[in-house]
Amino acid sequence: MRSLVTGACGFIGGHLAAALAERGQQVVGVDNFSPYYDPAIKRETGQRLQQEFGVEIVEQDLRSCDVASLLHGVDVVFHMAAQPGVRPSWDVFDTYVTSNLMATQRLLSSCARSGVKRVAFASSSSIYGQTSRIVDEEAPTHPYSPYGVTKLAAESLCRAYAENYGLPTVSLRLFTVYGPSQRPDMAFQRLVSAASRGETFTIYGDGAQQRAFTYVGDVVEAAIRAATASVDPGTAINISGGSTTSLNEAIAEVQRAVGHPLSLRHEPDQAGDVRHTEADISRAKRLLGWTPRTPLREGIEAQVRAFQNSRHARAATSR
Ligand code: UGA
Repeated sequence: MRSLVTGACGFIGGHLAAALAERGQQVVGVDNFSPYYDPAIKRETGQRLQQEFGVEIVEQDLRSCDVASLLHGVDVVFHMAAQPGVRPSWDVFDTYVTSNLMATQRLLSSCARSGVKRVAFASSSSIYGQTSRIVDEEAPTHPYSPYGVTKLAAESLCRAYAENYGLPTVSLRLFTVYGPSQRPDMAFQRLVSAASRGETFTIYGDGAQQRAFTYVGDVVEAAIRAATASVDPGTAINISGGSTTSLNEAIAEVQRAVGHPLSLRHEPDQAGDVRHTEADISRAKRLLGWTPRTPLREGIEAQVRAFQNSRHARAATSR
C-alpha cells in the first residue's frame, strides 16, 4: 500500500507518516514548511522521517504544485496539511482560505481523477462552535472562528466530491490533539515549554474552559483504520479522547508531570475560543472499531518526557 500524507512534517502528519512506515507501507510526505511556527522543527521531523522511517519527503505547496504528480501509485491520501490555529485566524484570513480550502479543492480534484481508494481528511471539532452538550456528527455545525469556518468548508468539499464523483472521502473531526511534539502554539506544549524555561504560562480566561483532549497516538490509529474501513463516501466521524477536562485540571496534570508548580497569569478570553467541547464517539466505535486508549495523565507524561528529551528543551535550558 502506498500512502500520501500531506502536512507530513507537522505535528499529526509526522506521527502518522512514521506509524504508516512502521507498518510496512510506502509513504510519501508532502509539506510546504510554512512559517506559522519555526520551520526548523518541521525540517527536523522531515529528516527523521526520511532517515529513520524511509519516508520520501517532497517540499511542495498544495496551493500551487502539480498535485497529480504526487498521486502516482497512491492508494490512500491522508490530508493533514492545514493552516492551524483557532485564535490567530482572525488575522491573515486569506492564508486560512488558501491553505485550508483552496489547497483541499486542488487535492480533491486531482484525487477524483486518480485511482485513490480513500481520502482521509483532518477536520476539526471547531466546526461545531459553541456547544454546551455532547455532540454527535448530526449536531448542527456553527463554527465560532474563521479557522472553523474554513475547516467546515473543506469538509463540505470532501462531501461534495464524494457525492458528485464518488470520491471515497472520510472526514475525521479531531478534538484538541496533544502529545509528543505538539505544535508549539498549543496549550500543553506552551505549558511544558514554560515549565522547562522557568517562564510564565498565560491562561486565556478563567481556565474553566473544557476540551475533549485527544492523544496523538490514538488519532493516528483512528486515521489508519479510516483508510480501509467500510464507510460511505463523505462520512464524518468524531475522533476524541473520550472525556472532557478543564484547562485548569489539565494544568494541574502538567504540574504533576513536570514535578513542580508553574508560574501562571490570566489574560482575557480570546475571540474564537469556545467554552466546551465534548464528543459522542459511538460512530467511531461502530465504523472504525476505534476507541481512545490513552488517559490524559499518561498522554501528558509522554508529552513531558518527549519535550525534556528534545533538542529544543536542551536549547531552552542551556540559555
Ligand atoms: C486545537 C487546535 O489548535 C486546532 O487546530 C484544532 O482544530 C482544535 O484544537 C480543535 O479541536 O478543533 P484548541 O482547542 O484551541 O485548538 O487547543 P489549544 O491551543 O491546546 O488550547 C486549549 C485551551 O487552552 C483553549 O481554551 C485556549 O484558549 C487555552 N490556551 C491556549 C491558553 O489558555 N493559553 C495558551 O497559551 C494557549
